[in-house]
Amino acid sequence: MQRLLLLLLLLLAACARQPPALPVAAATADPLAALGWQLLADRRLAVNRDFACLDCHRPERGYADGKPVATADGLNTPTLYGLAERTTFGWFTPEVRSLEAFVLRPLDNPREMGPRAETTLDRLRADPTLRRAYVAAFPGATTQITWAQTAQALAAAIRTIPSPQRGPLTPAALRGQALFAELGCGGCHQGATLSSEAYLNTGMSHDTSRNGGKARVPSLIALAHTAPYFRDGSAATLADVVAAYQRGGRYPGPGMSPAISPFVLTDAEQRDLVAFLASR
Ligand code: HEC
Ligand code: HEC
Repeated sequence: MQRLLLLLLLLLAACARQPPALPVAAATADPLAALGWQLLADRRLAVNRDFACLDCHRPERGYADGKPVATADGLNTPTLYGLAERTTFGWFTPEVRSLEAFVLRPLDNPREMGPRAETTLDRLRADPTLRRAYVAAFPGATTQITWAQTAQALAAAIRTIPSPQRGPLTPAALRGQALFAELGCGGCHQGATLSSEAYLNTGMSHDTSRNGGKARVPSLIALAHTAPYFRDGSAATLADVVAAYQRGGRYPGPGMSPAISPFVLTDAEQRDLVAFLASR
């Protein structure tokens, strides 16, 4: 009996530690977004049929993948939450200014799903169900199943992804929120998604070969589900992220944003800041 009770308690404790459930896919009446949802899950879009978008942007992992880096490009997979509100996309691509333009990148990249080929589209054209879905999404178009249409549908679907609902903040998270403001984190992480469209060198990674080391300020959404963190996945936990900021960056050097400088927190304050980040 006692052992059963202990087991029950352990089980309850495990449940309590689980982050809150995530919204997965939005049901949509819009034929364009509906087509996009089919395509996000379709491995036939990859030249080798080895990946679908949702194999890396996994709904149950906050549309990330839980890996430090996804491919030989050495980049961490960002979440797809909050993209409807953004105007810049990708860790190092300030020149890409629309979601439609960005989604062609994984389709072009040989280390993701590319290169893009006409034969890939023929594969899709051979599927009558998919043909009907394109016609519903693009009624009256003279050519059906093009890469431009595919990009439009993927972008429309991504824009329907609802960000997770957040409950009231715990007292610890509220204290952490105050610290976040006091420490100037909000100078770069601002607005509904706690992101900004800036590309900055924050000294978090030793690799500064791309875009002068200036990475796009990521959104802070569903962080409890999207570890590891930073563009190279080099921070395993939110406590590691906070520790890196406390040190004023891990690889301080020329070109680093002056907004990053060392600060001191007590252990309790560190925990509060982590609690706030985990509540996002
Ligand atoms: C092999 C894993 C992988 C696959 C497959 C993949 N992605 Fe990604 N995705 C990534 C990585 C890594 C990045 C960061 C790339 C960069 O910043 O240049 C990314 C970035 C993105 C972004 C930018 C997010 C942001 O915060 O700006 C979007 C949008 C996106 N992917 C959509 C897609 C779509 C649509 C597909 C399918 C056509 C897809 N991805 C397939 C790994 C993947
Ligand atoms: C000067 C602008 C700036 C300031 C100030 C700033 N950040 Fe960031 N933040 C960034 C950039 C840029 C990245 C991406 C860095 C990278 O991946 O190399 C980032 C990444 C992060 C990440 C990782 C997100 C992910 O999905 O990988 C977290 C968490 C974070 N910041 C929290 C904070 C906290 C907490 C503070 C305050 C102590 C703070 N930031 C202050 C610009 C800033």
